[in-house]
Amino acid sequence: MAKNTTVFFCRECGFESAKWMGQCPGCHAWNTFTEEPVRKSAPASSVKREQRPFRQARTVLIRDIDLSESKRISSGMSELDRVLGGGIVPGSLVLLGGDPGIGKSTILLQVCRYLSEHGTKVLYISGEESLQQVKMRAVRMGEFSGELKLASETDLSDIEELIREEKPEVTIIDSIQTMYREDISSAPGSVSQVRECTNTLLQIAKQDGVTVFLVGHVTKEGTVAGPRVLEHMVDTVLYFEGDRSMDYRLIRAVKNRFGATNEVGVFEMTGEGLKEVLNPSDYMLSGRPEQASGSVVTCVMEGTRPLLLEIQALVSKTNFGLPRRTSVGIDYNRVNLLIAVIEKRAGLPLYEYDAYVNITGGMRVSEPGIDLAIVMALASGYKDVPVSDQVIVFGEVGLAGEIRGVAQPGIRVREAVKLGYTRCILPEACRKNIDRSLLGSCVFVKTVREAIALIR
Ligand code: TYD
Ligand code: MG
Repeated sequence: MAKNTTVFFCRECGFESAKWMGQCPGCHAWNTFTEEPVRKSAPASSVKREQRPFRQARTVLIRDIDLSESKRISSGMSELDRVLGGGIVPGSLVLLGGDPGIGKSTILLQVCRYLSEHGTKVLYISGEESLQQVKMRAVRMGEFSGELKLASETDLSDIEELIREEKPEVTIIDSIQTMYREDISSAPGSVSQVRECTNTLLQIAKQDGVTVFLVGHVTKEGTVAGPRVLEHMVDTVLYFEGDRSMDYRLIRAVKNRFGATNEVGVFEMTGEGLKEVLNPSDYMLSGRPEQASGSVVTCVMEGTRPLLLEIQALVSKTNFGLPRRTSVGIDYNRVNLLIAVIEKRAGLPLYEYDAYVNITGGMRVSEPGIDLAIVMALASGYKDVPVSDQVIVFGEVGLAGEIRGVAQPGIRVREAVKLGYTRCILPEACRKNIDRSLLGSCVFVKTVREAIALIR
């Protein structure tokens, strides 16, 4: 029987199969299988034992491993350092994903500028743009006084040679989808190319101690094109988020072997590249309406940092039989659930009302700690009575109408007080976690009914 010359890969998760399938058994995505030729050459690891130079497996005692060498390097932007877990770890492989045009090349070029000006050897390899184009971007950002080396190259074996020759400490690969290895017959950007190229770069990173930043494009579904597989191979996965029509951008750590995940860095796109936003709460709340009904400020934890956000709800009488509900920035089903809790446990007849809930500033929040703020915003919108703009609200809402505790209430209250809020409405269960000095500005609630009664 003839041997198969092609295999099928899932573009989402890299699942491999001999035949095409409508749904991937690995990640359950539909219609993601693509056909690719089988690799002809043997994988590198199957080199015969005798032919290997001098590598031998050995063991080391954990207490003998020296950490002093692997000091983190600052990227020059404290927001990015924080997302990375405290700076760039030498020898790590970092994937930076995001929509086209969101600023991936821009931020990495800025990092390169800072690093090269502070004595770190940097090599920026662009597979998408010519050297002139990179220079044009650099000119927009201002002066480059360091010794930043550029290359425009897509063949990975050439790049490998270049890295071995130049011995940079940090290398940027912009982008992984444009790189290819000659021994793999499928096109650049395909699952096997991206996977094998990343593998090669991983070996370079680990053996030579080079930090490699990979730029990855995101598909419509919001994953790096093709290779979710990539996420398993790299040390750190950062995603660039944000509306391209708005000026600010978020970098979120989705995976980090060297730090906390869900850490968020906030940046603003300006005429001279990206600028850090050091006080994002102020930024998110700017332009807040004064004493408007349906507007409530809440505090969410983004990684280790508290962030104040405004939740808005518009509640209006339904004109047709079926009430309309929409949500922006929050899970739609969660909003429906909270509306049901308000109807049942607090007795507000929201079934006769349309409800629109929005988190301003374009943030997306999945933390249940904003439940109570949504409930208060809906109730305030329904009663048409504003919640004082000196108040922040947080807490999780249960189906029985009870208000449940949330993580790190102390930090949230402190942040709110720091920013000039005088009153916090929060779960009774959090009382023991609040400093005595701050108790005066706290109002503890146990049920949705109690919380809604505070709006009058
Ligand atoms: P870019 O870094 O090229 O995006 P990516 O590499 O993620 O595809 O970002 C390009 C966008 O950023 C482009 O729309 C122009 C804008 N921009 C500025 O607004 N100011 C600047 O100083 C620079 C360099 C880019
Ligand atoms: Mg780019």
